[in-house]
Amino acid sequence: MTTLKTKILDIDFENPFILASAPPTAKIASIDKAFSLGWGGAVFKTITPDNLEMIEASQRYAVWKSGNKVCGFENIELLSHLTVQEWLDGIKFLRQKHPTKVQIASIMAPVIKEEWQKLVNTFNESEIDAFELNFSCPHGMPEKGIGMAIGTHPEISAMITNWVIEVAKKPVFVKLSPNVSNIVEIAKSVESAGANGIAAINTVQSLMGVDLDTFEPLPNVNGKTTFGGYSGIAVKPIGLRCVAQIRQNSDLPILGMGGISNWQDAAEYIALGADVIQVCTEVMVNGYSIITAMKKGLLNYLEEKGFNSPSDLKNRAIKNISAHKTLDKQRQSYPQIDEALCVKCGKCIMICNESENSALSIFDDKVVVDKNSCLGCSLCSHVCPKAAIKMK
Ligand SMILES: Cc1cc2nc3c(=O)[nH]c(=O)nc-3n(C[C@H](O)[C@H](O)[C@H](O)COP(=O)(O)O)c2cc1C
Repeated sequence: MTTLKTKILDIDFENPFILASAPPTAKIASIDKAFSLGWGGAVFKTITPDNLEMIEASQRYAVWKSGNKVCGFENIELLSHLTVQEWLDGIKFLRQKHPTKVQIASIMAPVIKEEWQKLVNTFNESEIDAFELNFSCPHGMPEKGIGMAIGTHPEISAMITNWVIEVAKKPVFVKLSPNVSNIVEIAKSVESAGANGIAAINTVQSLMGVDLDTFEPLPNVNGKTTFGGYSGIAVKPIGLRCVAQIRQNSDLPILGMGGISNWQDAAEYIALGADVIQVCTEVMVNGYSIITAMKKGLLNYLEEKGFNSPSDLKNRAIKNISAHKTLDKQRQSYPQIDEALCVKCGKCIMICNESENSALSIFDDKVVVDKNSCLGCSLCSHVCPKAAIKMK
């Protein structure tokens, strides 16, 4: 019987879909609702010592859309506004009501050993399943020397991981930033310091745009802005790349995320090495109930493939990523045009002419390919508005 059950580090997930640390996990009531709807677990909105100032700006979002579809959020939101005691009470409530759901406490503290260890010791006594160290928030926190200011330095990341590991009684995941030139270096440094797993990615540092009348950048906070964090479907290729690079270099469990909006995205992350996947922006855009279709779709897919569980899918694609020099350059693909679909709009010819080459033309009222000039680059197939071009 195919199952969605997943086990990592002795933690049982009833399915591999959990909520990422973000607005959908900022309130106990929201997590309660998400668990009732079928999410396998939740990473809480990042918890900090109560005395760390957390004053939010308005507006705190700017959105990238294609038509009406949200492709990405930029946010400049800070961390949890609940006190440590409110979280402890919430964890107890959630554990009683949803005993099988995985609860992960995302934490962040100033770069002071006692502060990190105090926070860890406090949650050691609660019924959480694991810690996630937020070394990766790209806005607000780096100005205080924390968040991404930690996760861009291998030595500081290792030092804090070590402080946490010294006292943690639960597994420790470290959440990494994509805003580094070498994410593997950071992953390896926290692995050497004793991290039990990696979470990736946090948001991609961004600037959404500028109002050309007022010259006020977005999101607009009384005329000014700060660089924020980009999330949603637009960041999926960056998340996949980071997870694959980490998997190529480490056997640690990975909580993969970034732009996951459906079961196919989740399956791609798992095929590239993620053990469990996290979702944030898609839940904000379409609600917690997306979990039903995600679970059903992944289960059907696993069944069709003859896989028993997500762990049979894990890493299946990783061996197919290698250096450019090792790619097979002997065989070339060529565009094949489906005449029944082609409307002869000329888009494919334009992009071919103006992007390097002139392999496409209209002859006898048909789009034809000159195989001697064609580079097999595939651009024509991507711009065809009728999906009339397939590379063969
Ligand atoms: C509004 C907002 C707030 C977030 N807050 C946190 C946070 O407190 N801690 C954290 O580790 N990540 C935080 N994140 C990052 C998400 O957990 C996740 O890493 C990122 O959004 C990529 O996933 P997605 O594309 O599914 O949204 C936040 C993201 C958003 C959009």
